[in-house]
Amino acid sequence: MGVVIPLSLSFLILLTVSSPSLASKDCDFPAIFNLGDSNSDTGGLSAAFNSLLWPNGITYFHKPAGRYSDGRLIIDFIANSLGLPFIHPYLDSIRANFSHGANFATAGSTIRRPQSQSGYSPFSLDIQSRQFNQLKNRSQSAYNQEGVFKELLPKEDYFSRALYTFDIGQNDLTAGGYLNLNATQISADLTDILNKFTAVVKDVYEQGGRSFWIHNTGPLGCLAYVLDPFTKEQLDQVGCAIPWNELAQDFNKRLNQTVVQLRKDLPLAAFTYVDVYSAKYNLFKQPEKYGFDHPLLACCGTGGKYNYNGILCGNSFVVNGTETTVGACKDPSARINWDGVHYTEAANEWIFKQIVDGAFSDPPIPLGKACQK
Ligand SMILES: *[C@@H]1O[C@H](CO)[C@@H](O)[C@H](O)[C@H]1NC(C)=O
Ligand SMILES: *[C@@H]1O[C@H](CO)[C@@H](O)[C@H](O)[C@H]1NC(C)=O
Ligand SMILES: *[C@@H]1O[C@H](CO)[C@@H](O)[C@H](O)[C@H]1NC(C)=O
Ligand SMILES: *[C@@H]1O[C@H](CO)[C@@H](O)[C@H](O)[C@H]1NC(C)=O
Ligand SMILES: *[C@@H]1O[C@H](CO)[C@@H](O)[C@H](O)[C@H]1NC(C)=O
Repeated sequence: MGVVIPLSLSFLILLTVSSPSLASKDCDFPAIFNLGDSNSDTGGLSAAFNSLLWPNGITYFHKPAGRYSDGRLIIDFIANSLGLPFIHPYLDSIRANFSHGANFATAGSTIRRPQSQSGYSPFSLDIQSRQFNQLKNRSQSAYNQEGVFKELLPKEDYFSRALYTFDIGQNDLTAGGYLNLNATQISADLTDILNKFTAVVKDVYEQGGRSFWIHNTGPLGCLAYVLDPFTKEQLDQVGCAIPWNELAQDFNKRLNQTVVQLRKDLPLAAFTYVDVYSAKYNLFKQPEKYGFDHPLLACCGTGGKYNYNGILCGNSFVVNGTETTVGACKDPSARINWDGVHYTEAANEWIFKQIVDGAFSDPPIPLGKACQK
């Protein structure tokens, strides 16, 4: 007996010493699967329809690279910080390499099926989820064949070990005509939108997904493409459209509740809810402090109060018989807004640095530990 007690004591001590280091170990995500809209589209819509035009990509890729930005997106910084390559768009069949994940996001994607085709992507969240299922189900037989597929497709166990990232919702808000609806109608609609979000997350979970990193939607009302029609009384002290930001915050409140419920329903998964709204809004609030100016003006744009006239970056239009191409401002690195709708690489990198360590997350854990519950 005299021997047993010290042994179990030392065992206890060992446990106490080793568990904190276990708890702080990084997750070692081997892959990222991302679902979303243009905020995280690394070339999906561009591959499916039309290549983006110069000067998109001017700062980092030095050519259009499928991203609505002058350079990298938050998802690119996420991938690199986890030691992974840029996540390849699922829809890009030319240089497909999904060995470390796939990106199903496309610009203009909504959570619900789009009611109107104009301006919105046909690849809504449910379609992205089906594409994910296809990749998961069909990749394993290809992987197991001899040949190049071992270097192009994820290993089977990557699907359960991967980080699943979501950044979607903004286009459901702009598609809804919400500013003309009353609170009851908006609430009913948000319920429907978030039920559809839940269904997709549950499907990914059934396919083995266990680590979820979910961005809430940004301060839409600070973006040039919605700002034009508003009068001074409808703008906050930063200059953002109050009705749109209130709607975005309503959505976010519901998204947070949805994630709280998902944690209960899917006990084996880890969910990180990331308050990207607040990180972005802080930047609009104090741009000078962080090295930015003209926070509400598009960098790549032509004309209008916010240097955005509805013609997207790189496209041409004719004024007074003269063709003009929408070009970039002198220094995109000092701007937040790239093209009236999307963020510059400099802003994306700044936002990434704000959110990577968990300061805007619930629970407040860093990106590298997002597999821990
Ligand atoms: C993938 O396989 C699962 C299980 O065999 C099946 O339930 C599911 O419908 C399949 N999905 C697709 C997209 O084929
Ligand atoms: C696909 O990408 C991975 C990771 O960057 C790389 O190791 C692999 O060689 C690539 N596959 C091919 C066929 O180039
Ligand atoms: C909201 O609008 C709907 C449709 O017009 C109407 O039926 C409902 O009574 C309105 N609700 C409120 C609280 O005003
Ligand atoms: C999300 O909701 C939970 C439960 O209501 C609350 O405790 C938490 O503070 C909310 N998180 C955020 C980021 O709003
Ligand atoms: C086009 O011509 C009209 C009339 O001459 C002029 O007022 C306007 O400023 C011109 N627009 C541009 C962009 O040059």
